[in-house]
Amino acid sequence: MLKVAVVTGAARGIGAATAARLAADGAAVAVLDLDDAASRATAAQITAAGGTALGLGCDITDEQQVQDAFARTAAELGAPNVLVNNAGVLRDNLLFKMSVEDWDTVLRVHLRGAFLCARAAQEYMVEQRYGRIVNTSSVSALGTRGQANYAAAKAGIQGFTRTLAIELGPFGITVNAVAPGFIATEMTAQTAARTGVTAAELQAKTAAITPLRRVGRPEDIAGVVAFLTSADSSFVTGQTLYVDGGRRL
Ligand code: NAI
Repeated sequence: MLKVAVVTGAARGIGAATAARLAADGAAVAVLDLDDAASRATAAQITAAGGTALGLGCDITDEQQVQDAFARTAAELGAPNVLVNNAGVLRDNLLFKMSVEDWDTVLRVHLRGAFLCARAAQEYMVEQRYGRIVNTSSVSALGTRGQANYAAAKAGIQGFTRTLAIELGPFGITVNAVAPGFIATEMTAQTAARTGVTAAELQAKTAAITPLRRVGRPEDIAGVVAFLTSADSSFVTGQTLYVDGGRRL
């Protein structure tokens, strides 16, 4: 069966590595991101490497844009049967300084975005009696200082994952989550900047307290997503797999 994957937040970071990996494994991949040009640039890199990819600008918190992105994917690549809900943002602050806007933004992107994409995807997947959904949680779901909004969203993703696994299982659709630890991307570089250290300093500090003595790379997550969308994991559903080098916060 031709795999047609939609990966959100795929213009860069973990999403871009995941899109590239799924394409290398033979899937046709829709690269969704806020920025249309950035999405197309990432898709062009995949195509240049011999894969099939379509770059689409899409704000995943916008119901109509999500519907349109899935419709275009279906028309240009085929009916989607893999969804990787990866897009995310940080708006870190201690509770007493956290604005309502920062709370809402984080919950909107992670939870509303994942909901809208999963709801759009299931329509195509139920019809095929096959689907693979991978949501993105985080070690932050266990609680982390300065991230009340993000931790709530990432814990929410785990409940969302288990519920979709129950509802969609009868249709041959598995739903799992990856929970990354520290991965070297622009998101963690942003955290370094906020806390007044360089990205390299924060990575070195984190590596030192991680059992595997290194930080993660986007490819570390992409490989696990590839497993969770492959035939090897066909009896795995409703799980959250921590991919964190052994370190819980
Ligand atoms: P990143 O910041 O490098 O990339 C995130 C991408 O999502 C960006 O390209 C951004 O434009 C896109 N995006 C944001 N809002 C969007 C929206 N409304 N619609 C469409 N696209 C949107 O982040 P990174 O590090 O690659 O993270 C990917 C996922 O992994 C996120 O869900 C993040 O929370 C999660 N994660 C990352 C960890 C890390 O250490 N980097 C650790 C645990 C989880």
